[in-house]
Amino acid sequence: MTTATDSAPVLTVEGIRKSFGNKEILGGVDLSIRRGEIKVLIGPSGAGKSTLLQSINFLVMPDAGRICLEGRPVDPSDRKGLCLYRQQVGMIFQEFNLFDHLTALGNVEIGLVRVKKMKRSQARERAMAELERVGLGVHAHKYPAELSGGQKQRVSIARALALDPKVMLLDEPTSALDPELIGEVHAVIRDLGAAGMTMIMATHQIGFARALADEIIFMENGVVIEQGPPDKILDDADCERTREFCTKITELGGR
Ligand SMILES: Nc1ncnc2c1ncn2[C@@H]1O[C@H](COP(=O)(O)OP(=O)(O)OP(=O)(O)O)[C@@H](O)[C@H]1O
Ligand SMILES: [Mg+2]
Repeated sequence: MTTATDSAPVLTVEGIRKSFGNKEILGGVDLSIRRGEIKVLIGPSGAGKSTLLQSINFLVMPDAGRICLEGRPVDPSDRKGLCLYRQQVGMIFQEFNLFDHLTALGNVEIGLVRVKKMKRSQARERAMAELERVGLGVHAHKYPAELSGGQKQRVSIARALALDPKVMLLDEPTSALDPELIGEVHAVIRDLGAAGMTMIMATHQIGFARALADEIIFMENGVVIEQGPPDKILDDADCERTREFCTKITELGGR
């Protein structure tokens, strides 16, 4: 749990709508996050959590609404501006999306060289520091095939961190992992939160959500049903549907 230090929002999501074909997936979502805040998205499969996170990063192009970073609206048709925005809003996926032909170090370094135009030696130094931050200094020269799922996910977190993001979006970062590997990734995310990183994370890991989140957002059918502090949403929600979902997910032991 963190204390937000700034009252002005870092990121605002205003009236985001998205349909695929004639099916509306996001029906107008508003969200606002302050510096150092951690918001966790929960909701049934198909609620639109991934679509929302991808819309925030414009991997999915919203049909309506806007996203503002530090008060400035993002124009996704401005390629240069979008590229800059994406560096500032890091995205972590369920699958790690690493380059198999590059070592852990190479995977972190490549964005610094290609995107940030850093010199190779400087990029290497920074990449190494980020790998150490996620506890992977000794594995820097291994290829993804030589790393566990938890280690691969930590490399992808290091890769995002190297670009100095202002906000991190995490989409079920541990759901592809064997249970015994989840803890090491949770520990890295917890450390990030303690260091003041602003994060929006979708997860089905309810115990982790409770411990980490400043606010939990319950989504269903593409809209936010209810949001509030973890104990309120998970144990004492106002909406019947939120209570039903949270009871079920809590009884299932956190999945
Ligand atoms: N590219 C796409 N084309 C068509 N439909 C899509 C596409 N992406 C997502 N959908 C649909 O949008 C709905 C919301 O999906 P989304 O992946 O955002 O849900 P979710 O809340 O992340 O679910 P989960 O908990 O299973 O990850 C689903 O019905 C899905 O089938
Ligand atoms: Mg999803």
